[in-house]
Amino acid sequence: MIENPLHPASLVAIGLVRALPRRTVVFQEGDVSDQIYGVLSGRLKVYLSDADGREIALDLLGPGQIFGEMSLDGQPRSASVMTLEPARLVIVQRQAFTDYLAANPAASLALLMTVIRRARNLTGLAGSLALLDVYGRVVRTLTLAASRDAAGLTLPDRMTHQEIAARAGTTREMVSRILSDMRASGLLRIEAGRTLLHEAVVERDDAAPAP
Ligand code: CMP
Repeated sequence: MIENPLHPASLVAIGLVRALPRRTVVFQEGDVSDQIYGVLSGRLKVYLSDADGREIALDLLGPGQIFGEMSLDGQPRSASVMTLEPARLVIVQRQAFTDYLAANPAASLALLMTVIRRARNLTGLAGSLALLDVYGRVVRTLTLAASRDAAGLTLPDRMTHQEIAARAGTTREMVSRILSDMRASGLLRIEAGRTLLHEAVVERDDAAPAP
């Protein structure tokens, strides 16, 4: 049984399923279209980019998540979305989606929760871009992405310096420099191919030193 009333699998009956290869742009910021998407499998990123190719990642999406819901107001896409690995998406037309919401109040509430979570993340991102220096932003990005397991605070295997840079609003070169400083000072170590953060990084997150 699917517990999430807005699980993409529940939308398959009213949508189309598409398989996309890795690094496919699903749509770009500014595009006008009225489809809502659900992730059946794979990972995608939501990002903004400028003409010079600089990019800031807003969110990472995975199975069970919905995106493209902001087009419900008829405005152009607020951000771009790209697959990071082969993905299967369900695509639903706006009218079919709003009919589905009208018939399923629990799904409307689940969508509202999604929008609230995104607004919270964005508030955190705006705060850290405005209030933290680049070192603080990189540390904040690492601590948000790390998960606690038997080995300690571990970063996801596939997180590249480019991804960290995009999330922290800086360059790949700056991330590499900061990570090697952190390694040199023992705040970060690599063990059996896994990147582990020292507990002190979490404590320092609120009081980051200047780069
Ligand atoms: P839409 O504007 O239709 O197209 C881009 C999508 O990216 C948007 O709908 C949301 O689904 C998603 N999106 C936009 N901004 C954010 C954000 N700050 N955090 C997470 N997802 C977002």
